[in-house]
Amino acid sequence: MSRYAYVNGRYLPFRDAKVHVEDRGYQFADAVYEVCEVRAGRLVDERRHLDRLERSLAAIRLRPPMSRSALGMVLREVVARNRIRFGLVYLQISRGVARRDLAFPTPEAAPSIVVTARALNRTRIEARAATGIAVVSMPDNRWGRVDIKTVGLLPNALARQAALEQGAHEAWLVDSSGAVTEGASANAWIVTRDGKLVTRHADHAILGGITRGVLFDAVKAQGLTVEQRPFALDEAYAAREAFITSATQTVMPVVRIDGRTIGNGKPGPIATTLRREFHRFAEAG
Ligand code: PDD
Repeated sequence: MSRYAYVNGRYLPFRDAKVHVEDRGYQFADAVYEVCEVRAGRLVDERRHLDRLERSLAAIRLRPPMSRSALGMVLREVVARNRIRFGLVYLQISRGVARRDLAFPTPEAAPSIVVTARALNRTRIEARAATGIAVVSMPDNRWGRVDIKTVGLLPNALARQAALEQGAHEAWLVDSSGAVTEGASANAWIVTRDGKLVTRHADHAILGGITRGVLFDAVKAQGLTVEQRPFALDEAYAAREAFITSATQTVMPVVRIDGRTIGNGKPGPIATTLRREFHRFAEAG
């Protein structure tokens, strides 16, 4: 089946989907992005993702290149043209093409907009959720504004690769005080011995995940409470359960951290319930 991408106003066959070598996204990671889950052909939590995109754009001082409704139409068109039922849609906006210079181009360059979509292997993700994943910790050496969803993901890529090479599926990043910030591409959660959920508060040190935000509603509906605070690696090792959240994995149980077994080494009941309930609290567009 042919794949298509949206590039600066045109829907192109995937092999022709290209940006210029002097695109500032390519040169400086001067670009922001979003990833939205696609479920039964529909975008999950589009409104919240576009809200966050607007915050990211404002934070890097880039004006939205098109209206929200136009952007929504492009996202849906790319999903439809690629016949995605279950998968993801990816949107990236950069400060455009200009002579290589750190200062913003004057006059302003037209921002580059790219949208792609791809199917995810649901069976494989469900199998992974049924057994749970292993994570390994490593120092969080990212910049101080990871709340902005920029494409500057080199530290995340290095961390994920190191995790894979150690037989784990995700890295948990640890700040200089010994607290877990988040995963390389997901937010980190634990369930304490007394059954409380803990995830780091959303400041400049984590990406405020959309899945994380929606999960607060699912947690409340289960009569559970969340503490938004830093948690140390030792607290995570002793946790009853652990899991990560992201748009493409929703709630993914963690059963091993740095080789230590969490709980009984199987996905815990809270993570399992929240995974099952998640989409009742998400918005399907
Ligand atoms: N990752 N933290 C980081 C560093 C992330 O990259 C992501 C998302 C999250 C979770 O955010 P959300 O729930 O809004 O997906 C947290 C996306 C899926 C990615 O880069 O592929």
